Amino acid sequence: MNVTHLECANCGLRHEARSLHNLCTTCGKPLLVRYDLGQAALSLTKESLPGRRPDLWRYREVLPVDADDNIVSLGEGWTPLLRASTLGKQLGIRELYIKDESQNPTQSFKARGMTAAVSMAKELGVQKLAVPSAGNAAGALAAYAARARMEAFIFMPKDTPRANVIECEQTGAQVTLMDGLITDCGAEVGRRKEAEGWFDVSTLKEPYRVEGKKTLGYELAEQMNWELPDVIIYPTGGGTGLIGMWKAFDEMEQMGWIGAKRPKMVTVQAAGCAPIVRALEAGKRFADEFPNAATSASGLRVPKAIGDFLILDAIRASGGTALAVTDEELIAATSEIGAAEGVFCAPEGAACLPALRKLMASGMVRSDESVVLFNTGSGVKYLECFES
Ligand SMILES: Cc1ncc(COP(=O)(O)O)c(C=O)c1O
Ligand SMILES: [Zn+2]
Repeated sequence: MNVTHLECANCGLRHEARSLHNLCTTCGKPLLVRYDLGQAALSLTKESLPGRRPDLWRYREVLPVDADDNIVSLGEGWTPLLRASTLGKQLGIRELYIKDESQNPTQSFKARGMTAAVSMAKELGVQKLAVPSAGNAAGALAAYAARARMEAFIFMPKDTPRANVIECEQTGAQVTLMDGLITDCGAEVGRRKEAEGWFDVSTLKEPYRVEGKKTLGYELAEQMNWELPDVIIYPTGGGTGLIGMWKAFDEMEQMGWIGAKRPKMVTVQAAGCAPIVRALEAGKRFADEFPNAATSASGLRVPKAIGDFLILDAIRASGGTALAVTDEELIAATSEIGAAEGVFCAPEGAACLPALRKLMASGMVRSDESVVLFNTGSGVKYLECFES
């Protein structure tokens, strides 16, 4: 289709498009997909969109798969952007929205990344996929691998929410539960993948999950009639969604769809695992590993992210920020959002609400600004967090 090459996000080295890649062969940082956007824009026009399929493959020309037959889909994306008027009134914000990603297949935004990664793996002839996961990425990989008739090998911390473990087993994946964190799971995949013949689909260690996630940015623009919001609040672990949206905004600008104005990109982390917050405060471009990471928002328990510099670059370039909320705050916010708006959020998504309160208190967000909170998953996957 319109892919020209892959480019290292750090050193810029060009890599050939139609072969298997993990990280940059020179510097070991993530690769990003580059397109001939002029070519893409010939058929991908704003006017063409209303008649297209109601999933993320509506943005076909800026997604990486060559042959339609290789698309592995469960109906992901094109999730609702819900107006949160009750919460908005309570907070004194005129325009508040929730992008409700719990309505994806496997109930989280991880479906977006995995539809792209598994489709590309199919196109490139891969049979066995492996992933370290905090939970939701595992469930998504298991489902898409089953749909593609591939094998999935999943490594999760042993205290990952039960629903994530069960859904992987029920969709035919091989699950290994480990003593340790997602970083330990990643190291195990790294140690074994060559001997086992697994392709590693860890966050940003393969180039296509971020392409699926970037459709969050395209959808937001389309659903807001091509006016981006003033503020995006995003619960950040590995950061793929934030990095993807930032990439989407640039692509849309190059295609002439939006101007140069960008939302303030705000990263929310848990107080028990906030490496990006620390790095921003310390003025660093790369984040140190966060020691003794702990939070019940399991998707935020990522002590070291390989795309840290891309998250931090986007935050800084957008005039945004990064802040942490406590587990008590994010669990309390789940029932608050649920009761006010009828959305049973994942604790990661709920973290956006106390973050917004802090941002308003500090003057970083004003009441006349439009704000989008990302509910990245469903509370249904985290029942143990809500049982006392
Ligand atoms: C529900 C939920 N929200 C947020 C995140 C963090 O996502 P990312 O790694 O893209 O920053 C995860 C990751 O596991 C998640 O499962
Ligand atoms: Zn490089």
